[in-house]
This record gives sequence, C-alpha cells and structure tokens, in this order.
Amino acid sequence: MSKLEIKNLNKTYNPKVVPVKDISLDVSEGEFLTLLGPSGCGKSTILRLIAGLEQPTRGEIRIADRNVTHLRPGDRNIAMVFQSYALYPHMTVYENMASSLKLRKISSAEIHRLVTEVAESLGLTELADRKPGKLSGGQRQRVALGRALVRQPAVFLLDEPLSNLDALLREKVRAELKQLFASQKAPVVYVTHDQTEAMTLSTKVAVLNNGSIQQLDSPHLIYNRPANQFVAGFVGSPQMNLFVLKCQGNFAMLGDFGVALPNMPTVPPEIVLGIRPENVCFAGEEAGKMPAPQVIKGEVYLVENLGMQNLISIRIKGLESLTVRVLLPGDRQWNSESIELIFPPQLIHWFDVKTGERIPD
Ligand SMILES: Nc1ncnc2c1ncn2[C@@H]1O[C@H](COP(=O)(O)OP(=O)(O)OP(=O)(O)O)[C@@H](O)[C@H]1O
Ligand SMILES: [Mg+2]
Repeated sequence: MSKLEIKNLNKTYNPKVVPVKDISLDVSEGEFLTLLGPSGCGKSTILRLIAGLEQPTRGEIRIADRNVTHLRPGDRNIAMVFQSYALYPHMTVYENMASSLKLRKISSAEIHRLVTEVAESLGLTELADRKPGKLSGGQRQRVALGRALVRQPAVFLLDEPLSNLDALLREKVRAELKQLFASQKAPVVYVTHDQTEAMTLSTKVAVLNNGSIQQLDSPHLIYNRPANQFVAGFVGSPQMNLFVLKCQGNFAMLGDFGVALPNMPTVPPEIVLGIRPENVCFAGEEAGKMPAPQVIKGEVYLVENLGMQNLISIRIKGLESLTVRVLLPGDRQWNSESIELIFPPQLIHWFDVKTGERIPD
C-alpha cells in the first residue's frame, strides 16, 4: 500500500529562517492532503523535502513503508507538478507525457497505452500532436498533470498547480482535478494558499503558519471547529468576526451588550469571541425568546453587494470602534439603519486571549 509518512520533519536554513518546524503527518492511499497557509509559511519547502530536492535538518520521510529520507529524488517514485508547468517546448503533448516513461525503459506499446488513457481522461486526445506553444494556459496545465499521472507514482506532489490560471479556468480545472484524483490510489499532497481549493479538493487539510501545523483535520472541522484564532481568521471569506472583549460576570461585554460566556472553571478578564459573518442573525421573532442581553443593537454604515449576497458592516451601540460584518442573502431586505442582532450561542467560537487556543464548549 502506498502511504506517505512524515515524522518530526525540520528544516533550518540558518538560525533565523526555520521554514519547517517539527512536522508530522500521514497521508494514506486515496487521501488528498492540502497544505494551506500564507506566503512564506513553509509549504513549498515541505514538498521539496518530500520530493528529495532538499535535505531535512532532522526527521524522517517514509513512502510505502520505506525510509526514503536520504534517497535521491529519482529513487523515490514521486510525481511532482509545479506552479510553472515546465513543459518541453520542442515536444508535442504526447511526447511531453511520454518523456518520463521513456527514461524508465518501458515498452513503447505500454507507453502508448498509458499516455492514450491519461490523455483521454484529461480531454487531451485531440491535442496530442500540438506543441505547448500552441496551447492555452489551462491546456498546458493539464499536460503537466498528465505527465505526472502517466507515471503512476507512489505519491503525487502538487505545488499551486492552478495559480497561473484565470479565475474561471481555475474553477473548471479544480473540478476536473477532483474527479481525476478521486479515481487515483496514490496519496496526494497539494499546496495552496487558496482556501476554496483546500476546502473543495481535500480529504484533510493541514493549516500551516510559520513552519508549524496549526490544525490537521477534515475541511469540515477546519471550518466549523477552528483549533485556534489563527485558523479561525485564515479560513473563511469574508473573514470571521474576531473581537477581544472584557468579561463581566458570566458575560463577554460588547459595548452595552453582554454575550453569555461558555462554561469555564474560571472567567478570565478578557476573551476572544469569533463569529462568522453568515452566522450572525437579525433579531426578529427569535429575539423575544432570548434573554435581553443577547440582543445586540447596532447601526448599518456600509453595504457591499457581492452579487448573491450582501456584506453589511454594522457599528455596535456603545462600542463605535467595533465593526460586525454580516452576510445576508442578496434578496433579504431590512427597513432601517438601526438593527438588532443575535449571535446564536452554538455558532460562537471562543478563544483564549493569551494563547489563541480554542476554548472548549
Ligand atoms: N534556499 C533558501 N534559503 C533560505 N531561506 C529560504 C530558502 N528557501 C526558502 N526559504 C525561506 O523559507 C520560508 C518558507 O518558504 P516556502 O517557499 O516554503 O514558503 P511557501 O509557504 O511555499 O510560500 P509561497 O506561498 O509564497 O509559495 C520563507 O521565509 C523563505 O524565504
Ligand atoms: Mg510556495
């Protein structure tokens, strides 16, 4: 079974640059792991270490139960696709896809079978005789993917393979990728800073910051149960509302209003409250059923039309410096500038002010 295991991987360039800090993770057959994080957090370095293009300072990499940490890239049975799909310009689509197989001394009948099959699945059959110069960006990217797929590697590594495509094409190729890899067995490690790609493609996501894993979970849990304030703020667009609030009794104070705290052994002086823009409700009929402090009064001061939805910015009474952003369906109307909001308790995320860690509820 082809499985990728990474144990306590570290990479230090110099004492000031440690792009990979103690990373451990497993990717099993059929799993699609995405490394998601801001620019410079170490995503590409991890891929390069797995591929053998760099040597780790410490740690172990195993592929299919074999320690490959010190093997040359060519001996690891890995296929890698980069952001810049370096195709051979003088070769046709077919020859580009067949090139790595030729080096492996595979019979030409078998090469023909593999290339034809993959070209068909990628919709490249008609383009087999064209050279890369005469292809669109999306087509070139598909050839680069095809070149990786024909090799039937033990592990696929993809570093931002869609980032050179325009938005529409990206959406299309993303959907194609999802179908393509659903029928592949080899583990996939995919690098992106695009959270939509991470959420839609992955079976699990590792959110990285400063070279460390912040959370390793299913896309569902990353979004709905962020382990800390960094993950909460990084994943989700528009971003989660995050406020540092003073605690009074069993309430976190939002201007003149109190939001009931979760059960805690001791109430801290301050706490971080997080709520996603789509989870804030207008107090309508529900408001009457809630205890008075749970209704928050505010003034709308900005409406951004996002097409399907409106993103509205609201100032809270008694706390004019603070903005709550609320996402509403585009057809939802409201009558006045003054509105009443509710933060449904089960949709609030609480974080420790000092550590940023999630407070269990
Ligand atoms: N050869 C090198 N020597 C010194 N520092 C390096 C080297 N390669 C990368 N770095 C540093 O390591 C850190 C991680 O880089 P890396 O390329 O892994 O980031 P990334 O997450 O892939 O970012 P991006 O999203 O911008 O591609 C960065 O601070 C980078 O400047
Ligand atoms: Mg990178």
